[in-house]
Amino acid sequence: MNFQDPLFWRAGAVSTTLVMLVVLAFLSVDSMRYIRVGGLHVPKYDVINQEIGYQYDWSRSADVPVIGAAQPLFGKTVTEAEATALMDKGKLVIQSRNCMNCHTFFGNGAYYAPDLTKSWLDPAWSQIWMPATGKATREEAMAEFLMHPDKYPSWQRAMPDLKLSEEEARSVVAYLKWLSSIDTNGFPAGFGRSVVHHP
Ligand code: HEC
Repeated sequence: MNFQDPLFWRAGAVSTTLVMLVVLAFLSVDSMRYIRVGGLHVPKYDVINQEIGYQYDWSRSADVPVIGAAQPLFGKTVTEAEATALMDKGKLVIQSRNCMNCHTFFGNGAYYAPDLTKSWLDPAWSQIWMPATGKATREEAMAEFLMHPDKYPSWQRAMPDLKLSEEEARSVVAYLKWLSSIDTNGFPAGFGRSVVHHP
């Protein structure tokens, strides 16, 4: 071997790049098993027909979502196609109002307002927002808050009225419910366990 020969180093660079490309391709395909909708960590959209819990798993040292019994959203069991349409609409609303200008999803976005990944599971909906809005279910309280956040000021930062129609608010609630069913390896850590962050 001649270490002075540039061809030696070039061959090294080329072969390393090729090997790493193969590794990258493998890892990308492997990740898809987990992160595609219906994959190992991401339930199908019609999971919104079921109860979603969040329980500490000692073997993983993290909270993991637990999919439970039937619990139709807004009292209506949806087909997979209907659930997909709701998600498309919910995502469009979230993009058009730029919720990420204040909020984070999976920790991405702005740090002005709470992370929304597990918002559906926030105990504050039943403890504070259902009584405050006078609504009988969590989803109705969420939709009401999303349509008129300015009507329910807390002592913390205020969310402005983004003029969501009822249909838009409900599709966002559906999206947030599905989002909370994703196994995020425990992110955000300890969510909803110790503090209720509304007065
Ligand atoms: C200008 C900043 C801002 C924008 C834009 C914004 N929010 Fe908020 N949002 C807030 C603040 C601040 C709070 C906390 C309000 C409080 O605690 O009283 C909040 C609270 C929430 C909550 C309650 C979270 C929880 O777990 O208690 C939800 C859900 C929510 N926002 C959804 C949205 C959605 C969906 C959008 C886009 C359609 C959006 N927000 C856009 C500032 C914003």
